[in-house]
Amino acid sequence: MNLNKLGISLAHLLPPELSNKLSLEGLRFLYNLGVLSSISNQGSKDSEKVQILGLNFPNKIGVAGGLDKNADYFHVLGKLGFGFVEVGTFTLKPQSGNPKPRVHRFTKEQNIVNSLGFNNVGVYEGLKNIERNKFSFNGVLGISIGKSKETKIENAYKDYLHLIDYVHDQADYIAINISSPNTENLRDLSSENYFKDLIEKIMNKKDQLIGGFKKTKPFILKISPDESMVNLEKILLSCLEFKVDGLILNNSSINHNKNLKGGISGNYIKKLSEDNLSFAKQICGEEMPLISSGGIMTKEDVTKRINLGADLVQLYSGFIFYGTDLLKASLEI
Ligand SMILES: Cc1cc2nc3c(=O)[nH]c(=O)nc-3n(C[C@H](O)[C@H](O)[C@H](O)COP(=O)(O)O)c2cc1C
Repeated sequence: MNLNKLGISLAHLLPPELSNKLSLEGLRFLYNLGVLSSISNQGSKDSEKVQILGLNFPNKIGVAGGLDKNADYFHVLGKLGFGFVEVGTFTLKPQSGNPKPRVHRFTKEQNIVNSLGFNNVGVYEGLKNIERNKFSFNGVLGISIGKSKETKIENAYKDYLHLIDYVHDQADYIAINISSPNTENLRDLSSENYFKDLIEKIMNKKDQLIGGFKKTKPFILKISPDESMVNLEKILLSCLEFKVDGLILNNSSINHNKNLKGGISGNYIKKLSEDNLSFAKQICGEEMPLISSGGIMTKEDVTKRINLGADLVQLYSGFIFYGTDLLKASLEI
């Protein structure tokens, strides 16, 4: 019996939020004992390596934002074989998130609805965790940042600029999250009223960092799957105009019939994510690195995303439901 898999399947008997935590704790325990078996000899196979965004990825398969909210486990996930891990989303101060229960799992359909609301230890503690765990991590580390619950939408840009200052040195790339459905008004930031101004300020910040002789890190925008085609096109064109380094398509969707608060992930958003990816590829061409997230549940899904134009893919729900089997299969492509 594969120990890693056993940990994951036992945990499925518990409430989802607790079970996710226990599964990750189980993996960390095995890691600390030195018995966590690696699925790939990360970085050793030249055929798996990818150079994109000015970074060397050991492979194309990453962990999406929110699985390792506080940067407690990314070194363990790297050891398992993931080529990159996006930790966070971090806010400036610690947040407890929305009331529980706030993660609902639909095992048969392979969907998850969550309304967590950026529960995290805050960027300051998060960076301490990153410093502690980074020395044993060989993959690419993305740090996801988001606006605090109490920050007014007009001031949201200040949160992002401060967070960039905090995370810049530690991140290999910075993921700008304006697409979580669980922080009130957050998605307004992608509307015409705010988007161009926000992205201009953020990319100016990047220029300032270059001016200060810091080697700057790629800034990647994570987009909602629920934009209208018209607005998505505007967003993509602004990203090209302001030279955003890359895009993650996409976050969870609020368009579901589960009678629950929050965004749906998993199978339910497979088609939506594929369509958004294709559309982004059509608009951005080869100019913009694209990371696909949403409903990647099988290795065939991984192949399809790459054929649709994704440079990299991220797993979340697929990893929750299939554990290391999905990672292993994806790395064999
Ligand atoms: C429980 C849960 C928590 C999440 N938290 C975050 C988060 O903090 N930041 C983020 O960018 N995305 C977050 N996401 C979205 C995922 O990163 C991913 O984009 C989304 O679930 C779609 O991928 P999937 O269908 O493979 O799950 C979360 C998703 C889930 C299910």
